[in-house]
Amino acid sequence: MEKTAIKKQVRAAFDHRVAVRVYNDQEIERGDMDYILDTAWLSPSSIGLEGWRFLVLDRKHVADLRDELKEIAWGAQAQLDTASHFVVLLAEKDVRYDSESIKDSLIRRGLGEGDALDSRIKLYQDFQTRDMDMADNPRALFDWTAKQTYIALGNMMTAASMIGIDSCPIEGFNYDKANAILAKHGLINPDKEGITSMVSFGYRLRDPKHPRSRKARQDVIVWAD
Ligand SMILES: Cc1cc2nc3c(=O)[nH]c(=O)nc-3n(C[C@H](O)[C@H](O)[C@H](O)COP(=O)(O)O)c2cc1C
Repeated sequence: MEKTAIKKQVRAAFDHRVAVRVYNDQEIERGDMDYILDTAWLSPSSIGLEGWRFLVLDRKHVADLRDELKEIAWGAQAQLDTASHFVVLLAEKDVRYDSESIKDSLIRRGLGEGDALDSRIKLYQDFQTRDMDMADNPRALFDWTAKQTYIALGNMMTAASMIGIDSCPIEGFNYDKANAILAKHGLINPDKEGITSMVSFGYRLRDPKHPRSRKARQDVIVWAD
């Protein structure tokens, strides 16, 4: 396809995407969910860490969790009632420069032996201590891996919109309680990971009542002189 046509198609997907809270009964096909999830899987992460997991809940699983989650998720009331699928984005905890996860990521990238390994770990030690001041702060380490999941979140929502599937990103819930619910159901390991956000997917019941609101483009996009 020609560049102009691709740009038009991508822009149309961005124009079509709005936060959709109420969905109709149509189920998203498995192949379409897999296409969306591939864009999370293939998303970039800092130092190639991939310190994340994406937990997929279909309607049946959402139904099992609905009552418990609705109690603690003010931002997901209608989505929990109507969405075809939920994806819960999880970030790894305690990914220090000397952790197994960092070592595994280096092995995956062919940097797992000898001097290459040692020099990379030293680089990441400097990065996490001198540059980011996070190596000894579990909350800061979690926030670092959590930030990266938002790249996957954006990619999934754009990919979905490209094929006419609607979505809503969700942060409106009590984190401790949501983690506890998923842990109780055996869906996450709270010692190793925590929820960063969720996203609902489905087909909109109706178009939004209000026009999209955005700051003026020139106030946000600034070209250096
Ligand atoms: C990180 C993030 C968290 C959000 N959390 C919620 C939420 O909990 N519940 C909800 O209904 N909408 C949520 N939204 C949707 C925003 O309210 C919405 O994206 C914003 O108002 C812009 O509208 P638009 O997405 O329709 O363009 C969230 C959006 C983002 C990016």
